[in-house]
Amino acid sequence: MLKIKNSVTIYLLYIMTNDQIQLVQQSWASVVRLPEVVGPLFYGRLFEIAPEFKPMFNKTSVPEQSKKLFMMLNYVITKLSRLEEVLEEVSALAKRHVGYGVQPVHYATVGAALLWTLEKGLGDKWTEELKAAWTACYTILSSAMIEASTVSQ
Ligand code: HEM
Repeated sequence: MLKIKNSVTIYLLYIMTNDQIQLVQQSWASVVRLPEVVGPLFYGRLFEIAPEFKPMFNKTSVPEQSKKLFMMLNYVITKLSRLEEVLEEVSALAKRHVGYGVQPVHYATVGAALLWTLEKGLGDKWTEELKAAWTACYTILSSAMIEASTVSQ
């Protein structure tokens, strides 16, 4: 666990600036208001680029799944500047994902679907700066999840 904590702190310090944290938090605030639009957009895109993922998600409906994903992202994003507070939860989430059949290689595809969704959802507000900030954010979160799912406790 200590190893995970240290690495996540390092990712955070070296990959995201305070400006980027603010950009992610502000843009997320406008996306999070519309989970019923953005959720289906995200899953629609995910299954378009990775139809082979579909069977993994067949236990829950898209609205229910979207709600859970949004709640988790919301939780992490509000704590981006104090990531050490959410590490236990991110680690537990990552371990549950191993049980869902998720492999490290899948994180990049989900990240691509997430960025595509944000770009569509934010429209004119989507900029190169925002893209870099969100890429950094997803890299930190997914790296932490991959590490937690591969490191033995
Ligand atoms: C930053 C990355 C991710 C976050 C924040 C995230 C978040 C979540 C959350 C909150 C849930 C609800 C269940 C739970 O809390 O255990 C969930 C379920 C799930 N996620 Fe993720 N996830 C991420 C990446 C991925 C990736 C890369 C995949 C691979 C395809 C994936 C596949 C799934 C599946 C299959 C379920 C269970 C669906 C079901 O039972 O119907 N997730 N995820």
